[in-house]
Amino acid sequence: MRILLTGGAGYIGSHTAVALAATGHEVVCFDNLSNSRAEVMDQLETITGQSIPLIVGDIRDRTSLEQAMQSHAIEAVIHFAGLKAVGEAVARPLIYYDNNVRGTLSLIEAMIACSVRTLVFSSSATVYGEPQYLPLDEIHPTSATNPYGRTKLMIEEMLTDIAAADPDWRIAVLRYFNPVGAHESGLIGEDPNGIPNNLMPFISRVASGRLERLSVFGDDYDTPDGTGVRDYIHVTDLAAGHLAALGAISSHNEPISTWNLGTGQGYSVLEMVRAFERVNGVCVPYQIADRRPGDVASCYASPDKAKAELGWEAALGLEDMCSSMWRFERMLATSNSPQATAT
Ligand code: NAD
Ligand code: UD1
Repeated sequence: MRILLTGGAGYIGSHTAVALAATGHEVVCFDNLSNSRAEVMDQLETITGQSIPLIVGDIRDRTSLEQAMQSHAIEAVIHFAGLKAVGEAVARPLIYYDNNVRGTLSLIEAMIACSVRTLVFSSSATVYGEPQYLPLDEIHPTSATNPYGRTKLMIEEMLTDIAAADPDWRIAVLRYFNPVGAHESGLIGEDPNGIPNNLMPFISRVASGRLERLSVFGDDYDTPDGTGVRDYIHVTDLAAGHLAALGAISSHNEPISTWNLGTGQGYSVLEMVRAFERVNGVCVPYQIADRRPGDVASCYASPDKAKAELGWEAALGLEDMCSSMWRFERMLATSNSPQATAT
């Protein structure tokens, strides 16, 4: 298929571009580079041996989306483009509604204008809000605990209405758990600007000496060691999940379907620290700090629906997550250019 990847230069988009190109799909990336760099396309060419086009544009610009879809005869869209920082969303909610919700509306309008009705959407486990039971399955009630989560929920609801109004749509809503890791080459990965909010990029930087020590946000949760438990999924597995979803929606009859992409296995903060140290032979100094507001004790997926309906399940474990992140971190230390994510 000829597939447009909005946000294709970003962390998950770039890894999915590799997976799609490797299976013979034609990929076109569309990205405004607000949180990524054009140089990632060079890395993608090195990895895939193919030149993947990048169109620099904003999804809120419907005309440029339509031009991109028409000029490349696009048949399906995977929609990664969006802002994703929870703290920033709380402080500046309007830019999240504008970028994520209005941007998706503009994309849908452009798709309709170009007669493209196959869409894979990047949603998040954040739409489950405070877990009422575990593991989280797709019928768990949804709610939002912050404006970022609310944009994902609003988009999911918008897509549900669109699919109800026109059953020709084929939409996959993918709810990611905690994506971590990097491509095995070490050429692409996630390197947030400033101090990382998420655990694993923080651990990587402490290990390399870019940051002094990790603060573990709370050790008094109702979990085996008192620290927060999450479902970490390797970004390469996540990328493969997009291929599986695209294949499923292209051949089945439902206008919209939702799947969790997680491993089903939860690990605590301290388990992640120890795994990173053991796998990479490094030291990650940490201190116990207060709980982070808004955090839950445990969050992990039921991956059963994806396994049954997509024939997909995560294959890579903690070892691969930790070693690939460290390879990428070392690569960043020895070169100044290539990285997937810049903000
Ligand atoms: P990322 O920031 O690395 O990638 C997003 C890309 O979208 C960036 O390259 C950015 O430049 C681009 N972009 C943003 N707004 C745009 C716009 N208006 N027009 C065009 N391009 C735009 O983030 P990611 O981690 O790759 O996340 C991809 C998607 O997955 C996002 O929608 C995110 O909300 C969702 N998601 C991510 C995670 C995670 O932990 N990384 C978890 C759940 C869901
Ligand atoms: C966060 C976002 C969530 C988003 C997800 C994407 C918040 C509140 N939630 O989820 O919306 O979908 O990222 O991956 O930001 N931790 C530390 N020290 C740190 C960083 C994290 O102890 O410096 C702990 C956290 O308390 C948590 C675990 O590590 O228990 C994972 O945190 P993080 O990587 O930020 O992911 P989530 O909070 O699950």
